[in-house]
This record gives sequence, structure tokens and C-alpha cells, in this order.
Amino acid sequence: MICLASPKRPWARVRQANALFQDRHSRLPMTPKSISKIDMENGGGRHQFASDNTAAICPEALAALQSANIDWAPSYGDDRWTARVRELVRDIFETDCEAYLVFNGTAANALALAQLCQSFHSVICHEHAHIQTDECGAPEFFTKGAKLLLVGAAAGKIDIDEAATIIARQPEVHAHKPRVVSITQATEFGAVYTQDEIAAVSKFARGHEMFVHMDGARFANAVAALNCAPKAITWEAGVDVLCFGGTKNGVAAGELVIFFKKELAREFDYRQKQAGQLASKMRFLAAPWIALLTDDVWLRNAQHSNRAARKLAQRLQTEAKIEIVFPMEANAVFLRMSEQRVRDLHARGWHFYKFIEPDIYRIMCSWSVSEQEIEDLVADASCVGRGSSV
Ligand SMILES: Cc1ncc(COP(=O)(O)O)c(C=O)c1O
Repeated sequence: MICLASPKRPWARVRQANALFQDRHSRLPMTPKSISKIDMENGGGRHQFASDNTAAICPEALAALQSANIDWAPSYGDDRWTARVRELVRDIFETDCEAYLVFNGTAANALALAQLCQSFHSVICHEHAHIQTDECGAPEFFTKGAKLLLVGAAAGKIDIDEAATIIARQPEVHAHKPRVVSITQATEFGAVYTQDEIAAVSKFARGHEMFVHMDGARFANAVAALNCAPKAITWEAGVDVLCFGGTKNGVAAGELVIFFKKELAREFDYRQKQAGQLASKMRFLAAPWIALLTDDVWLRNAQHSNRAARKLAQRLQTEAKIEIVFPMEANAVFLRMSEQRVRDLHARGWHFYKFIEPDIYRIMCSWSVSEQEIEDLVADASCVGRGSSV
């Protein structure tokens, strides 16, 4: 990736990066995922590429779960497994920080934002951010009224100039007060913010007395893609709170909410409990995370899924002559396909979602995708209908 800008306007980098992702996709209508589900009702059961949520628990996490399944242990996070996860998080991010385990990504995002916002605050995010499109209003619910202010731009990255314009338009006390910029790493369109781009977002946020929240459901994929230290794209670049996804990386459940400024975590344990997100048997969320965070399993899982996505994209392009519409940076592949080809693939049992109308579909690779599965999808995609896009 990408691009250059005047040091006086570092966020121009983000703009330029966005511009390189075909601008025509910046304001495209997204497809409700359920439509694709209906399309696939008659298909078989090949879920390997529908989402990284469809994968099994990785062997290391499963073994850790099994090994924690002994005797008795203190409950509600006072156990040694949870303490060890916190230690590992501090080691990996190379800083003293506070980490909490909640059950899923929606809760992680919503509670993190609630921790940063009063009810009269607002959160700047991308118009296709998961917090906006896929969390059933959980951020608004848990903040008790904070508003999401939507910014466009391609690739799922925030356009800072547009954010500035939106903030300037808030009529002071008559509108919600901007409080947080939320970015997704890797983005919903499979792009990865560089360290400089994150620093530019943070600089912008600081300039407006705002915090930076990172939805890191695929944070591991971003670190793998950038081959950087986790600190380089979080607290060193100005991120205040990270929701670090484990589910898509290989555990059954459990996402980390990490506060890099410890004072921001004040009484978060009460918020977590009140929201029903404090597991009584926390050790069973924590033990698999220990496995992920030991010997770089989290990174290897992400490297595998990124590699698989790259290979798949390359082969679909060259062998099946399918257009790849966004640059491949993490583990998602966005394809343009004709309705006929999609029907044929669905008829052969392949599950995947339409993401952007009228003809862009997402294929996602997980830690467990095998060479054979890539081979099978490419073979099927190469021989089914190649009719023009309708
Ligand atoms: C960008 C992003 N954030 C957060 C999540 C977490 O969602 P969930 O509540 O399903 O774990 C997802 C899951 O698909 C996601 O893609």
C-alpha cells in the first residue's frame, strides 16, 4: 500500500489511500446479508468461505480449554487463567494496560464506546462500520443515546476531511458532542490502516478532544499484514481502546477490551457485569486466549488466513477470470460475479454473502482453510456460468 502527503496534513494520506480504492465503491448500497442467506437456502453445506466465524476452534485453543476443565477455580475472572491473559496482553502490547474479556465483538464495541461516551456524545465512524450496520443499535443502547456520525470513503477507512466537515456542522450544544473516532482494523472491506494513517486519525481526534476506539475484530490479520509490533498500530499511534477479536482468530468466544490508558477503564468491571458480559466461569474464555497469545498462535492463524485469501484471490482471478474489486490486504476477498455464476456456486453448496449491490460478493478465509478447499472452490468457480454481470 500506498501513498504520500504533506506532513502538515497527515490525514491526506488516508484520503489518498481511499482514493486508490476505486472511488465508485465509496457510496454503494450494501446488501442486507439475509438476502444472500435466502439465495442459499437450497445449497449444500460448504461454509468454509462464508465468514471466518464459520471455522472451528483452533487446536491450541481447544487443548487449552480442555486443560482448564479441571477441579474448581475462582469465578468471575479472579482465576489464574484470566490473570495470565492480562499478563500476556501487557507483554504483547509492551505496555501497562487493562484488559477485560467479554463474550463477543458487539458487546466489546458497545461497552468500550459506552465507557468513553456520555449519552449526549457522538461517535464518528465509517458508514459501513460494523458498529453502524451490524450491531442492532448496541452502541446507541449501551451509551444510552450517543449518536453515530457517519463518514464515507472507500475501503472502509475514515475520510478525515469529511469527519472534520461533519464535526464543524454540529451546532454546539444543540447537537451531540463529538467524543470518539471509531476505526475498524482490518476494515469491513478487507483493507488495513497503516501506522501513519492511524496516527493521522489520532492526531485529528486529539485536535478535537476526542478518543480513538479501534474495532479490532480482525486486528490479528492487520498485524500479520503489516508485519509490525501490535503497539505500533495501537497505543503508540494514539489508539485509546482496542477491541481485540478472538472469535475470528480461533477461539469459540471471547473478545478482549483493552484500555491503553488505565484511567479510562475506571469501573468498567461494573459496566461489564451490568451488561451481562462478566462470565462467571471466566477461565473457559481465558484459557483458549492464553493459547492464542502463547508462541504467536494468534499471529500464525492470521498469517495463514491472509495467505489463503491472497492465494484464493489470485487463482480466482487468473483461472476463473473473476474480477477482484478491492486490493487484498487481510483475509477478505471481494469479487464481482454474474448472477448465473453465483447461482451455480450456490447450487454446488458454496455459501458466501453478497456485500455490495448489484454484484459484489465477499469471500472470507479463516485460520483453518486448507489447500484442498481453495482448490475445490477455484475448480468450481472456473467451470460454472460465466455470464455477464446483471
Ligand atoms: C468488523 C467487525 N466488528 C465486530 C464484529 C463482532 O461481532 P460479533 O458480535 O458477531 O462477535 C464483527 C463480526 O463479524 C466484525 O466483522
